[in-house]
Amino acid sequence: MTQQQRRLALNVFFMRFGHHPAAWRSPGVTATGRPDLGYWVGMAKLAEAAKFDTFFVADFIGRSGDKLKQLSRSGGSFQFEPLTLLSTIAAHTQHIGLVATVNTNFSEPYNIARQLASLDHISGGRAGWNVVSSYKEDTAKNFGIKELRGHGDRYERAEEFVAVVKAYWDSWDDDAYDHPDREGNQFFDPRAAHPVKHTGEYFSADGLLDIARPLQGYPVLVQAGNSDTGREFAAKVGEMTYSSATSLDVAQAYYADVKGRLAKYGRDPDDIKIAPGISVVVAETDQEAQDKFQSLQDAVDFSQGLMGLDVSAYPLDGPLPDDIPIPENGRGRIQQLMELGKRENLTIRQLILKFSVAKGHVQVIGTPKKVADLMEQWFVERGADGFNVVPPLLPGGFEDFVRLVVPLLQRRGLVRQEYDGDSFRENLRLKRPANPHTVGVHRSAATAASIDREDAAVAGDANVASAAGGRR
Ligand SMILES: Cc1cc2nc3c(=O)[nH]c(=O)nc-3n(C[C@H](O)[C@H](O)[C@H](O)COP(=O)(O)O)c2cc1C
Repeated sequence: MTQQQRRLALNVFFMRFGHHPAAWRSPGVTATGRPDLGYWVGMAKLAEAAKFDTFFVADFIGRSGDKLKQLSRSGGSFQFEPLTLLSTIAAHTQHIGLVATVNTNFSEPYNIARQLASLDHISGGRAGWNVVSSYKEDTAKNFGIKELRGHGDRYERAEEFVAVVKAYWDSWDDDAYDHPDREGNQFFDPRAAHPVKHTGEYFSADGLLDIARPLQGYPVLVQAGNSDTGREFAAKVGEMTYSSATSLDVAQAYYADVKGRLAKYGRDPDDIKIAPGISVVVAETDQEAQDKFQSLQDAVDFSQGLMGLDVSAYPLDGPLPDDIPIPENGRGRIQQLMELGKRENLTIRQLILKFSVAKGHVQVIGTPKKVADLMEQWFVERGADGFNVVPPLLPGGFEDFVRLVVPLLQRRGLVRQEYDGDSFRENLRLKRPANPHTVGVHRSAATAASIDREDAAVAGDANVASAAGGRR
């Protein structure tokens, strides 16, 4: 895709109070932690009004009942189950992509295939799946799992999981249910069904999905791992990555590395969108933004550790020791953290203030121009195809971004003014996956033309994409 054809993708990553660990205690926050549907729907509508591509809901399943004191200090991470929440949001929005985090460790492919297919139909082709396999002991115990799965093992399992889910999505032709023959008593033509027969290392599956193929073929597949295995997984199956980088050179290295891995899977570099996180505190003046941020920083609780590392045995004002035990999970990001500490000669306290707050994402605190300049530079210089906006404080931090930064990005022609696609995929200019089993038993002229137009849209012609409408 040439620079002119590229369009910066905007995602927003929501947490109840924001990503800053002290957000829930921030002056002015009066809401309780009770699940509040009105709040989430309101934020999704705001994101859609600002023409965002994606409303992303994370999920870190399960809590431990053994660490109540520590848990009681981390407010705001208790929230709705993503698929349920996004199904409701779907009914209140029309265009924005809805990405649910779904873990591959605690479910069977069949369940996830039908839940995501349902979300895709409910939303009129706007579902996405953030495929995670993160394996926390605390989560696992809630599922009766005692033996922790290793890093490579969980990625292998995730890969097979995704393959089986796709097989279920492909178990029907796109138009399998569109031609019921009432007189002949045939609801569907058996040739439009492609039963799954899978026996693999982790899963066995035999049967058919009980809902039509997703409108998008497959919901958009998102991946957020940073380790070498995670990047390979992204290159094989991902269509968008939520990466993390604290500087342009790190972002560019990740961008080139992941895109460079696609060819061996027969994929084009444009088949994946790289969307690093960006932690933004924006205000009319630099000073105002700094003051807002400082009031959050002043409330940081240093006893909460550092990205899963137990630092309680070390002095806060000393360096992070090289030989600190690293948990299996999140290895890639902890590596980033250690490199940052060395590069900038930071103490544990400084690392907590810097990394726990922005979670390893680039941080911009300042004017709208400062934020837009960084986004433009990373986009133009191929460190990013888009961004995952992670507001430290919600709802105000996102409202500020929408009010102050989005119009500037629009004026610079970097982001859309209006949605022009008919699905999440089309808005992102991603290919619609064809069903490899389809022999075209029902390809009426109209259906064939509509599918062919979508296939053409994947070639990057946005005008053709917008003309392909009418599936909702
Ligand atoms: C922006 C972002 C969002 C993530 N969201 C989730 C999530 O909602 N649930 C989850 O279990 N893991 C989540 N992760 C963790 C990743 O899926 C992955 O497990 C982690 O980055 C470690 O992967 P690695 O070992 O390949 O580096 C997220 C990571 C990033 C960078």
